[in-house]
Amino acid sequence: KKREKNIESLLREQLPEYVIDILKRMGRLGHRLGYGVYAVGGFVRDILLRRPNLDIDIVVEGDGIVFARAFAQEEGIRVRTHKKFNTAVLIFPDGMKIDVATARLEYYRYPAALPVVEFGSLKMDLYRRDFTINTLAVDLRPERFGRLIDFFGGQKDLKEKTIRVLHSLSFVEDPTRILRAIRFEQRFGFQIGRQTERLMQNAVKIGLIEKIGGHRLFHELQLILMENDPVPALRRMDEFQLLGVLDPLLKWTEKKEKLFRSLKDVLSWYELSFLDEPVEKWWIYFCALLDGLNASQLEGVCKKLDLPEGHKTRLFGALRNIYRAARELEAKESPPPSIAYRILNGLSTEELLLLMAKTEIPEVRKSVNFYLTRYRYVSPEIKGRDLKEAGVPPGPIYRKILDELLYAKLDGLVYTKQDEWEYLKRHYPEIFKDES
Ligand code: CTP
Repeated sequence: KKREKNIESLLREQLPEYVIDILKRMGRLGHRLGYGVYAVGGFVRDILLRRPNLDIDIVVEGDGIVFARAFAQEEGIRVRTHKKFNTAVLIFPDGMKIDVATARLEYYRYPAALPVVEFGSLKMDLYRRDFTINTLAVDLRPERFGRLIDFFGGQKDLKEKTIRVLHSLSFVEDPTRILRAIRFEQRFGFQIGRQTERLMQNAVKIGLIEKIGGHRLFHELQLILMENDPVPALRRMDEFQLLGVLDPLLKWTEKKEKLFRSLKDVLSWYELSFLDEPVEKWWIYFCALLDGLNASQLEGVCKKLDLPEGHKTRLFGALRNIYRAARELEAKESPPPSIAYRILNGLSTEELLLLMAKTEIPEVRKSVNFYLTRYRYVSPEIKGRDLKEAGVPPGPIYRKILDELLYAKLDGLVYTKQDEWEYLKRHYPEIFKDES
């Protein structure tokens, strides 16, 4: 029997000590209950790739819910169980979560069969998974803590940087794996294996993608857009003719390439300048991907993705806002700040960034840049309460005055509070007579 590798030292190198301790305590509890307990999947893959990841998935050979409840009780932490799937989530006080699943036992399916052999149920559990690199497991039980279990050649494929399915029906069983293959390939800089690629092409050709429900399709697309750099995966989707699934005319063109390149620059500028104001990048990429489609095409995409009503409204609103603002800014040559402000004021930061990436006109980019870095922080010195003290009768006039002061300040017509009072005396002589 070939010697199994032990990766305890690798775990210790990459995980905080308290996480190691948690894994050890899980193994000990498993031992006491007579259960096999393993960390599996993406967590193990990422340890071997030295990309530490605290999304821990545990598989229990035994009753996962009993295990999770007992563990939660011992640790004094919260647990949420899903009876239907025999799974549970452990929730630690710091917010860390660990998923616990029950390895499906052979005797559930064949009541007359003998009890499972060693690894029997773990192996079956792993066999149902998407790619070999996601089938690695680490034994957590005391005597064998850290032992790497590799039934399907996951280590070899990690070394060869290859995405491979376990069997030829994998994409038929679950067509979302077509998108997952692309996502993992691009995230790790791997290659989809030749046979796997053929299976993917075939799956696309026979229309399996259309079988994915809109909701799941949207979720997979969203996961791709949430990757650090979604561009290579989008290109690859186009190669597999997957963008056409959203809309027959949606293609990865030179123009898209350029828009996304520009977006990348805009986003890195933004993130460096506004560390504490994160934006929803996936959303910007989503709008950028669909930019250029007409309203009826967009309707079609929303339908294909079963897009939640809120997202749909936001999508149409975003694209409309961006077109309108671009048109208005482009019509003016270097508009004064107060005009740029009024044009841009209703846009979300995500929309502003997409507008910035989209425009070919440096003046427009500059207006958006100034809006984000300066204009939006400007407010008049005089506040509503000052107006009240000055005896201005309540009403819509407050909004009007304060807006006007803001525009005057943006355009450099007033600097100090004193300037603002002077300005008001000049513009509203009937209201502001001899005060201040
Ligand atoms: N899985 C699968 N088929 C799917 C989705 C998931 O076989 N359609 C399996 C994979 O083997 C994966 C595990 O379920 O390892 C957990 O799924 P997920 O959390 O999506 O995968 P991770 O590998 O952890 O991915 P990520 O790094 O993106 O979180």
